[in-house]
Amino acid sequence: MSQARLAPSLLSADFAQLTTDLRRCEDGGADWLHVDVMDGCFVPNLTFGAKVIETVHRVTKLPLDVHMMVVEPEKYFDDFAAAGAATMTIHAEAAPHLQRQLARIRELGCSAGVAINPSTSLSAVEEVLRDIDLLLVMSVNPGFGGQAFIEGSVEKVARARNMLDAARSGAALQVDGGINRETIGAVWRAGADTFVAGHAVFSAGDPSAEIAALRARCAHEA
Ligand code: DX5
Ligand code: ZN
Repeated sequence: MSQARLAPSLLSADFAQLTTDLRRCEDGGADWLHVDVMDGCFVPNLTFGAKVIETVHRVTKLPLDVHMMVVEPEKYFDDFAAAGAATMTIHAEAAPHLQRQLARIRELGCSAGVAINPSTSLSAVEEVLRDIDLLLVMSVNPGFGGQAFIEGSVEKVARARNMLDAARSGAALQVDGGINRETIGAVWRAGADTFVAGHAVFSAGDPSAEIAALRARCAHEA
C-alpha cells in the first residue's frame, strides 16, 4: 500500500464534545474511525455497543472499524451491521468457529477482520486467510488505551506481512496499541498498512495535525 491508513480510536475521544473530535479526525484526513467494543469479560473493561455505534454513524462519514473485544461476538453481528459498522473484527481467542463467524460478517455486507493478542501465534489465523479482509496484530494486551507498545510486535508484523503475501491475500494488516510518532515508522516498514491510534491523536493539542504527522512518519520512512 502506498499510503498508510489511519484509524483514530474513539476510546480516547472526549465524549462531551464528540462531534468536535470527530470533525477533527475528518479534517486531519483520518481514513477510518476505530470503535473499541469491550464486554468486561474478554477484556477487563466495558465500553459501548450498538447504540453508540449508531449514534457515531449518524454524525460522521468515516467508515466505522469496529474492534470487538468480546466473547461470543456473533451475538452482536446483526445489531452492529444495522448500526452502521463497515468492518467487524473479532478475536481468534474468543471465536472458536472462525470461518463461520467471518462468513456471517461478510454476509451482512461488512468487511471481516480477525485479531490476535500479543501472546497469540500467527498460526491461529493461518487457516482463515481467505476468509478475512483485515488482520489485526495487537501491539498491546487489549482493554485500555494509552498503553506502551510491545516492541516484539514489529517482528511479528513482518511475519504477518510475509504470511499474507505468501497467501496472495489482499487483507489489510492493522496494528493497534501504543502507536505514536515514535513507534509507527517501524511497524510501517515491517509491512503494516493500517494504524489505530487513540492516546497519540486525542491527547495531542491538535488531533488533526497529529494524524497528518503520523501519516508523514510512514511516507518518509517507506
Ligand atoms: C486497546 C484498544 C485500542 C486502543 C488503542 O485495547 O483495542 O484500540 O484504543 O489506544 P492507544 O492508541 O492509546 O494505545
Ligand atoms: Zn482497538
